[in-house]
Amino acid sequence: MIPTPFRVLDRLREGRPPRPDEVRAAVAGAADGSWSDAQLGAFLMAVAIHGLDAAAVRELTLAMLDSGERWDLAADLPTLTDKHSTGGVADTVSLVLGPLLAACDVPVVMVTGRGLGHTMGTTDKLEAIPGLTLEHERPAVARLLARHRLAILTSTPALAPADRRLYALRDQTATIRSIPLITGSILSKKLATGAAGLVFDVKTGNGAFLTDPAQARRLSEKLVETCRGLGRAASALLTDMSQPLGEWAGHTAELLATFDALEGRGEPDLMAVTSALAVEMAALVGRPVGEAELEDAIASGRAREVFVRWAEAQGGDPRWLASPRFELAPVETAIEAPRAGVLARVDTRQLGLLLAEAGGGRLGPEPIDFGVALRTRARLG
Ligand code: URA
Repeated sequence: MIPTPFRVLDRLREGRPPRPDEVRAAVAGAADGSWSDAQLGAFLMAVAIHGLDAAAVRELTLAMLDSGERWDLAADLPTLTDKHSTGGVADTVSLVLGPLLAACDVPVVMVTGRGLGHTMGTTDKLEAIPGLTLEHERPAVARLLARHRLAILTSTPALAPADRRLYALRDQTATIRSIPLITGSILSKKLATGAAGLVFDVKTGNGAFLTDPAQARRLSEKLVETCRGLGRAASALLTDMSQPLGEWAGHTAELLATFDALEGRGEPDLMAVTSALAVEMAALVGRPVGEAELEDAIASGRAREVFVRWAEAQGGDPRWLASPRFELAPVETAIEAPRAGVLARVDTRQLGLLLAEAGGGRLGPEPIDFGVALRTRARLG
């Protein structure tokens, strides 16, 4: 028997952690509207406070997955891979990584997200390309992968729709920062496309979503353990976000940085994280790719070519893509150090918030100003 919302919440009020059947009931109630916002908010807070055991996290993930379509794209492409980043500042990795691996004949499907707080999202960055669209149905995605080895999407209502409602409520109830809820939310969308392997780029440091390294490690372990438990290959890298990953942060600016990277002028830290993830993703699906192959994909121009052809196939304006023009904001302000010295610490989160507050991020309902950018010239040390 499916427990009613009242019975579930009555038990949770006693401080008992939610059971798998209660988790499934709440997610089903989120999807079919039979649980109210108040009931779901109370449920989410109970999970955030008391946590979930491994069986309940698995059930949360599966129930969210079952609320939408399952595409099973790896049935035709057994080396199909995806990666998820927990987000940071100047994290341009996805834009470079996708075409790079595709150019090495490793197919990549990426479900990307929008910016959140001080971090920017790949979905928003790609929307700065005129005409490009990110909501596509399964047949179109299969065609993109067959032709270009690359499909970059945003989470559509078809994929894990229960997560849409729960995520919006988590935002309102301060329950975003909960490892079991983050795990179910990320995995349900990623598993829905059916990539054969998933690599998680879990950021640590003061610009990360989870600043405490121990928490970041726990999240990475939970993601990998849950994913493997559901029969999907997975691994995680913990990467540093104690300074912006690249010199440029901002939507248009990061597209410029992407073209620079695909033309062989990538910034060292950005390229180091991108290569490490690419090598890991390819190995995970049994099609190992070495650094030399990645370098060749860039030096030969293949990776750039894949980006342009793929972007055209997803609606990007071909004339614009033939000679991309990016306009940065017309007003420039330089902030200089008052004296010479060694850079010992960067408040990365505050830099991300500054960029967002200047119009270059998603802090409220206002549209993003794609041209707003932040350039940090000095690196730690
Ligand atoms: N990204 C997601 O998709 N879900 C979360 O809960 C956090 C980050």
